[in-house]
Amino acid sequence: MPLLCVASPKGGVGKTSIVAGLADALKRAGRTVVAIDSDPQNALRLHLGLPITDGAGYLARLPDRPDWRACLRRTPAGIDLLPHGETDMRGALASAAMLEREPDLLAGPVRAMLADPATIVVADTPPGASVALSILQPQAALVLAVLLADAASTALLPDIESGRFLGQGTLGTLNGPKLLVALNQVDRGSRLSIAAAEGVAAHLGPRLAGAVCRDDAVAEALACQQPIGAHAPGSQPARDIADLAAALLRHLPPPAVAPVASPLFPWMRQ
Ligand SMILES: Nc1ncnc2c1ncn2[C@@H]1O[C@H](COP(=O)(O)OP(=O)(O)OP(=O)(O)O)[C@@H](O)[C@H]1O
Ligand SMILES: [Mg+2]
Repeated sequence: MPLLCVASPKGGVGKTSIVAGLADALKRAGRTVVAIDSDPQNALRLHLGLPITDGAGYLARLPDRPDWRACLRRTPAGIDLLPHGETDMRGALASAAMLEREPDLLAGPVRAMLADPATIVVADTPPGASVALSILQPQAALVLAVLLADAASTALLPDIESGRFLGQGTLGTLNGPKLLVALNQVDRGSRLSIAAAEGVAAHLGPRLAGAVCRDDAVAEALACQQPIGAHAPGSQPARDIADLAAALLRHLPPPAVAPVASPLFPWMRQ
């Protein structure tokens, strides 16, 4: 039912790694998960185990008006994924222009996914402003902004808090309950990283949903094409991402139980 949209005003902060880790952690927590890749880098499929030679996807093929259901892929990680699909700059610009004219090409499939009461949809977005983010965020129950524990990310906090990075308005008026922050690559061996993390935590209070430590296991998981929870289940970053998933679930409604037909009165739904 809910859409969790992972975004950041800053590139390279770990959005895609966190989407893959969260999708996996939510699945392990017993949820049905669909992941959407709205980033032309088309990298989420690699984190979830699709072959690098498999360039199929949905948004990259928008000019052909594909059936999104036919583009869904069951990944080896056991998560249903709507990959972006392989594209080049011209193709990415054409798809973005098409989405701007017809936002329902993305909003429609997301609406259909969200109609299933048992499903959580997790979306990866391109860095910074994008047409995809502007379409996804109004449908999102939660927007998780990923930042690093460093000075550059800390400097972006006003953009996040004002809601500017999501387009318009203020956090209070538009995005108050929906916008949470996760810190990634917190380096426990770095005084600067710890100081930045503590500063952000003190500033954001409960709007900081969690923090993920810096650990080579995250990069190794991608090299092995697995989410961190599958690659290194006992590792600190896997535990951090599981904690982050649990924190996000506390902000979401409990899963709806699928209606069951009574064996005696099959037309009745319980
Ligand atoms: N917690 C972490 N510890 C160590 N390395 C990490 C961690 N999180 C991400 N990385 C590494 O940082 C790099 C960027 O991660 P990722 O691609 O997930 O970021 P992104 O925000 O999706 O990037 P982009 O803005 O380009 O989409 C990758 O090499 C990834 O393996
Ligand atoms: Mg990414």
